[in-house]
Amino acid sequence: MDRDLPMVEIDHLYRRFNMAKEKVDSVKEYFLRKVKGSLSYDAFYALEDVSINVEKGDVYGLIGLNGSGKSTLLKIIAGVMKPSAGRCVVRGSVAPLIELGAGFDIDLTGRENIFLNGTVLGMEPAYIRQRFDEIVDFSELQEFLDVQVKNYSSGMVARLAFSVATIMKPDILICDEILSVGDFLFQQKCEKRMNELMSGGTTVLLVSHSIEQIERMCNKAAWLNHGKVMAQGDCAGVCNEYKENARAGKLGEDVPEDILAPAEDEAEAEVSPAEDAGQPEARP
Ligand SMILES: Nc1ncnc2c1ncn2[C@@H]1O[C@H](COP(=O)(O)OP(=O)(O)OP(=O)(O)O)[C@@H](O)[C@H]1O
Ligand SMILES: [Mg+2]
Repeated sequence: MDRDLPMVEIDHLYRRFNMAKEKVDSVKEYFLRKVKGSLSYDAFYALEDVSINVEKGDVYGLIGLNGSGKSTLLKIIAGVMKPSAGRCVVRGSVAPLIELGAGFDIDLTGRENIFLNGTVLGMEPAYIRQRFDEIVDFSELQEFLDVQVKNYSSGMVARLAFSVATIMKPDILICDEILSVGDFLFQQKCEKRMNELMSGGTTVLLVSHSIEQIERMCNKAAWLNHGKVMAQGDCAGVCNEYKENARAGKLGEDVPEDILAPAEDEAEAEVSPAEDAGQPEARP
């Protein structure tokens, strides 16, 4: 692998979806209309002229409101979706943690899914057998190994998915929000493993609505809004720009609470005189 080339190179990328203008009630009606050519669509761009480079060893955060195109971009990088125009070059093996349960068969047990998911990620059965105990230990799902995955909680599915995907030290790890369903102990464990992978050279792409997590883990970030890159580069700078715009009401009203919360220095200024003097406030 050429060290100088970016691990992920996204160049003037567009992804278009067609949104039906009218409701079609049945498959039969759909085909009749298609044959007659009377199906009408509105073109809609989930990603518009996106250009991003992710270098080896980067922990690259993607931030933005719901529907801004983060998952669509990750799916294109993971190779499960094609761009409508533009270029996406990925150099190296990819372990995608994109949708909860993707690469799993919910009718199979956790044990069977470790083999299924491992194979989907390109591992040989002998390798999975060799690392099986480590995967199970990390997931802490020993007691549930022979339970069908459809009876797992979402946090348990995330544990299994993360444990399998990170056992093989992929070149690129893609995490789309799925870790947020794990409890805080598991999240800490995942962060620790991600840090280990990162120090071993794995490049990480991380989507999270927790700006605090992005600021803590990433060195670079991009802020997407309605499919367009509003800012990219140094993580702290991009997060600050996002937060400033959100606080200024420029992103609408559906803004996460951790962004709307006052910054630490503002919060200090709001301390009441009683607290300031070390006196507990009277209870009501
Ligand atoms: N398969 C699809 N067909 C049609 N529209 C789609 C499809 N997938 C995504 N979209 C649309 O593309 C836009 C971007 O969706 P995407 O899932 O990438 O957003 P996101 O940034 O990941 O949002 P969230 O924070 O809610 O996960 C949305 O308007 C969504 O409705
Ligand atoms: Mg998403």
